[in-house]
Amino acid sequence: MKFAILGSGRGSNAEAILRAWRAGGLGPAAPVALFSDNADAPILRLGESFGVPSALIDPGPFRTKLDPAAEERFATAVRSAGADWVVLAGFMRVLKRGFLEAFPDRIINLHPSLLPAFKGLHAIRQAWDAGVRVTGCTVHLVSREVDGGAILDQAAVRVEDNDSLESLEVKVHAAEHALLPSVIGRLAEGRLRPLERRTAR
Ligand code: GAR
Repeated sequence: MKFAILGSGRGSNAEAILRAWRAGGLGPAAPVALFSDNADAPILRLGESFGVPSALIDPGPFRTKLDPAAEERFATAVRSAGADWVVLAGFMRVLKRGFLEAFPDRIINLHPSLLPAFKGLHAIRQAWDAGVRVTGCTVHLVSREVDGGAILDQAAVRVEDNDSLESLEVKVHAAEHALLPSVIGRLAEGRLRPLERRTAR
């Protein structure tokens, strides 16, 4: 399972994947490239430290999605890197049909809530504002419904009385850093099989 990582920001999840890979924790899965839509994304510097090629790709004129030409640029870059899977680790643009059809059921996304609760942006804040006592993170297949594809796995995080939004964010991110590499490793080893509505473990 060769995969490309796409990210827009801090890159802490990309780093967790690369660390797990370096430690031999991804089984037969290997990251072969890192791509970003954001020239300032620290994710681009990670490639150098881990010996994985990284590149900025022009995302086109829109802020929250890629236009068809940009989708083609991303798809071509992923294919040229030799990847057949795509891992979205904090990639903050909605992917449309052109990109999804290039890698059918081979794109996974990380989301910082227990889906289907709190889809969309600022999911940790949404959960905090709603006053839930349990939230967490989800890794799912990407489908045309935003944050709506088949759930691969989830990790729960309790909201304690002494938590703040900031401490909750730290806890959700820590859960993400464990969950995403674990899902990639299990997918590669055939221990997670996405089904229509439910993932076989
Ligand atoms: C993560 O919390 C991820 O779940 C979230 O962006 C953050 C990226 O952090 N993704 C989304 O909200 C996607 N809708 P990172 O750049 O440090 O990995």
